[in-house]
Amino acid sequence: MKILGISCFYHDAAAALVADGVLKAAASEERFTRIKHDPEFPKNAANFCLNKAGIEVGELDYVVFYDKPFTKFDRIFTGYMAQPIKSYKSFLLAAPIWLGRKLWTSQVIEKELGFKKDVLYLTHHLSHAAGAFFGSPFEEAAILTIDGVGEWATASYGVGKNNEIKLFKEMHYPHSLGLLYSAFTYYLGFQVNSAEYKVMGLASYGKPEFQELIVRKLVRVCDDGSIFLNLDYFTFQYAQTMTGKRFEQLLGRPRRESESQIERFHENVAASIQAVTEKIVMKMAAHVREKTQLNRICLSGGVALNATANGKLVKSGLYEDVYAQPAAGDAGGAVGAALYAHYKISGDNKRPQQFFGIGPSFEESEIRDFLISESLPFADKPIDVQLRFLAQKIADGHLVGIFQGAMEFGPRALGFRSIVADPRDNKMKEKINAAVKYREPFRPFAPAVLKKKTKDFFDCNSEAPYMIVNYTVHQDKRSIIPAVTHIDNSSRIQTVSKNDNSVFYQLIEEFGKLTGVPIVLNTSFNLRGYPIVNTPREAVETFCTGGIDFLLLERFILSKTDIAKDIQSKFLLNKKVD
Ligand SMILES: [Fe+2]
Repeated sequence: MKILGISCFYHDAAAALVADGVLKAAASEERFTRIKHDPEFPKNAANFCLNKAGIEVGELDYVVFYDKPFTKFDRIFTGYMAQPIKSYKSFLLAAPIWLGRKLWTSQVIEKELGFKKDVLYLTHHLSHAAGAFFGSPFEEAAILTIDGVGEWATASYGVGKNNEIKLFKEMHYPHSLGLLYSAFTYYLGFQVNSAEYKVMGLASYGKPEFQELIVRKLVRVCDDGSIFLNLDYFTFQYAQTMTGKRFEQLLGRPRRESESQIERFHENVAASIQAVTEKIVMKMAAHVREKTQLNRICLSGGVALNATANGKLVKSGLYEDVYAQPAAGDAGGAVGAALYAHYKISGDNKRPQQFFGIGPSFEESEIRDFLISESLPFADKPIDVQLRFLAQKIADGHLVGIFQGAMEFGPRALGFRSIVADPRDNKMKEKINAAVKYREPFRPFAPAVLKKKTKDFFDCNSEAPYMIVNYTVHQDKRSIIPAVTHIDNSSRIQTVSKNDNSVFYQLIEEFGKLTGVPIVLNTSFNLRGYPIVNTPREAVETFCTGGIDFLLLERFILSKTDIAKDIQSKFLLNKKVD
């Protein structure tokens, strides 16, 4: 049985293909269209999935959509009707899009892909839940999903057992932890549904001075973790904004202008909403533990991308094992929808899934032809030799772009489309920001560590292959790896095993032999404002535009100093701000 899962029309559109119960391919649309968080129908991602699996669209048994558009429209329409005067502008903007396209998903799928059979629809949180549980290694586990909003649900919990999922309870719009966090993201001058992780990074610098105020005025937190927002302070119910005057009066300052100075006040606000979020997540998780009596939990939904909250949950010991889906946001809903449909229809037993190797990849011959046709000089040596060379260059302080294997699925680069640097250099963060990322100085960089050496540096006793959980750097190691130790001594680690990513593993191992530190700084291969690179051409563009010194394209190495300026200038990208 061949099933295509689709998520789109909100943010982070994606497609995933499951054939005979195996996740064969998955990708986000943004990587093809080069529009960050592209919400549009994922035609490119869907076609990629079909090609990768070697399947024609006519061979698909089902296409499964990750939410129920009519129920979602009901929620949106009901919201507008509750406040028709305030919301008429939003309604005028949204109505044509819903009536023209979003409500007719089956027709869009037929038109865009040529798929003529029935389309199945899952609820949004069931898609999240299925992505988390069926992607996890567990036979049985509790499931907790928390996001902004799906149809009506904003959080849910339940249990997964073998090939079945049962959701027991939901929290409903407008009461939403994801929307609360996004409201603060908006207030702090960052982009909603995109830059929530910046708030998380900023939080580590501040003191949670407003925590008590938030809980007293903005959100009532119940013992079971369910919450009720005081809607007087929010505007998302009826406007294109998240917060307004009352919110600003409460916190005592107007909303921060995007790109303006970040002050102590903003750090404290970020720390406060982060602290409140962590408390709510912990309460929810404790309630789920009590109700399900299970000691493993799977997390999904946008809030499960909050690595600091995930880290707190892991450290609490509330659960023996915590699995956060690598694509916990809406992109992961495509995977969940396809896997859920497979198990439901086939009745097959749950099987382990592999999240590596399912993205776009390029043959060496294809890359070689491209480099030759563009007159780009490159070194062609066995991969072992190349990785030893690059490990030395990293140890010498150079920035290295890595483009090899199949692209990662989810927001994090995991050594297939990464920029890699020396974690020992205190100045490396500034160097990367100046050279490539142009990003805010408060944002941390993360380490990739050999799995077998993880315990030597971090308080992590298991594996963390997806960079989605924060751990603490051992006190005596903080001065050894300052570039990947955040201000609060946390680190969003990636444990690397040979099995998951042999080239990246070998690179880190070689770096470890040279330096005694089996860790590299690993950041995503993109310039600020761009999605992660997808093709060799995009890798070369980012390499030429930013200050990356060496680029590994499969087994070929490009050195910046070997490339003539006029050739480099052909690949320059405009700098964007996100
Ligand atoms: Fe969601």
